[in-house]
Amino acid sequence: MTPTDKKLIQTLKGETLTPPPIWLMRQAGRYLPEYRATRAQAKDFLDLCFTPELAVEVSLQPIRRYGFDAAILFSDILVLPHALGQRVWFEEGAGPRLEPLRDAGDIARLSPGGLHDKLAPVYETLRGLGRELPQETTLIGFAGAPWTVASYMIEGQTSRDFATAKTWAYRAPEEFAQLIDILVASTSDYLIAQVEAGAEVLQLFDSWAGVWPEAALRRWCLEPAAEIVRRVKAAHPEVPVILFPRGAGLLYEAFAAEAGAEGLSLDTTVPLAWARKWLQSRVVVQGNLDPLLLVTGGAALEAGVSKILETLGTGPLIFNLGHGITPQALPEHVEQLVAQVRGWQPGA
Ligand code: CP3
Repeated sequence: MTPTDKKLIQTLKGETLTPPPIWLMRQAGRYLPEYRATRAQAKDFLDLCFTPELAVEVSLQPIRRYGFDAAILFSDILVLPHALGQRVWFEEGAGPRLEPLRDAGDIARLSPGGLHDKLAPVYETLRGLGRELPQETTLIGFAGAPWTVASYMIEGQTSRDFATAKTWAYRAPEEFAQLIDILVASTSDYLIAQVEAGAEVLQLFDSWAGVWPEAALRRWCLEPAAEIVRRVKAAHPEVPVILFPRGAGLLYEAFAAEAGAEGLSLDTTVPLAWARKWLQSRVVVQGNLDPLLLVTGGAALEAGVSKILETLGTGPLIFNLGHGITPQALPEHVEQLVAQVRGWQPGA
């Protein structure tokens, strides 16, 4: 099987497959008992990300269980600030922590020079997955988008309102632009190296795009994403890119028209009929199912899945969630979801 015969890649080239291919954001995670068991073998979460043997194993777990059409590299968006020399750690039950950047001097002290050495285990994980994945499964590499990564670098943790990062950008846009530029360059290099290690599709996660007004969203989310797509395509024109500007609202349309990516991942709030008219006419769409339906299952899950298939399934669609799967999701509900999508026939 050549890469172009793989369902995810065919879809990203614009073909409509019936049923559509399916994978789930955060498909490897705590809702799976086998993930929790492998996780317990690592010293901490970053150690799990940086131990290729364990990271390959957890990436494969959801493929073995559900036969998804794609495996996503197991890692985290915060390995990039770590590779730039910032202190990053994960506190049990509390999420990510970073030693926050406080001023222009802290930005100037970031060191992109050691990037590939520090990220070598991630490339090793991709090579391992290239050897072990079933031949029909697409391998997805990923990175965080500059704004979302910058928000963690400045806030030092997940934030409710991103006040420190946003006020920095409003008060001193040239300084903030220096950070974004460093992230555009290092993220592009990182993604290019992922392709060279075997990633066949790339996804850029901008989980916090939705906190900005229009002009700032264009400046700090859309322009950096478009520049990363340009740089990746200059090195590897054939590799499809999916953007996930979560919460972008009506500006999803600007991403479809201007960013140069093949795919757009839709959050849960994007209206489906609007997406069909304004987005799917220009790009391949992915996502939108509310991840909490995998906690409840049953008729609510069935209805949510049907709505997406009926509205978007007659065009190029990658079935996915509107955000990552939660630890409370039940594995049997994921099974129900996969069975429904795989059994779907239009108009039946
Ligand atoms: O999708 C996958 O299966 C691949 C792996 C993946 C992880 N994180 C593993 C992970 C991916 C693609 C990410 C992306 C990521 N990481 C994002 C963007 C997507 C999103 O969800 O918005 C963000 C914002 C992060 C930062 C991050 N990492 C947070 C906020 C947390 C804590 C939240 C939580 O669920 O605990 C993490 C930790 C993390 N990353 C876990 C996993 C499986 C849980 C860690 C654990 O096992 O204890």
